[in-house]
Amino acid sequence: MERIVIYPGTFDPITLGHLDVIQRAASLFDKVIVSVLVNASKAPLFTKEERMEMIRETVKDYKHVEVDEFDGLLVEYAKKKNAIAIIRGLRAISDFEYEFQMALMNRKISDGITTVFLMPHEKYTYLNSTIVRELARLHADVSEFVPKSVVKKLSQKFA
Ligand code: PNS
Repeated sequence: MERIVIYPGTFDPITLGHLDVIQRAASLFDKVIVSVLVNASKAPLFTKEERMEMIRETVKDYKHVEVDEFDGLLVEYAKKKNAIAIIRGLRAISDFEYEFQMALMNRKISDGITTVFLMPHEKYTYLNSTIVRELARLHADVSEFVPKSVVKKLSQKFA
């Protein structure tokens, strides 16, 4: 049986920290579906299409990585995709409480799906999409933190 996993998130935009998690997941499982949450309560900087396009561009050389979108309950979507697990990145203890709550709630509402936490390289510990957006808004160089296609998109947004 093909071991499929879902890597869900807002990806506003995808960072090198996300990419690190995707690479780790791809080395462990047969297929990784990177799934962009559509109807989040937060208003993203990039449209869903832009976020998906940036991810597609970033993972285009990875054979077993797909890009998709989802709406509604993550566990329902994961079941529909025949996924065995949800992947989440854990950078620091500060991530833990929120992630722990989500993982346990997801397990409570759907017992068949496990959350697997992967730790990106420690050089990405301080990195997240919010900080990247803030830096780009202030015209700082973000090329160390996001894939090339994202650097371009960010500078267009804040031109
Ligand atoms: O990148 P993010 O914003 O940290 O990702 C959060 C995400 C998309 C994983 C989370 O908000 C989510 O799963 N939303 C879908 C709705 C859902 O299933 N909620 C119940 C979680 S306990």
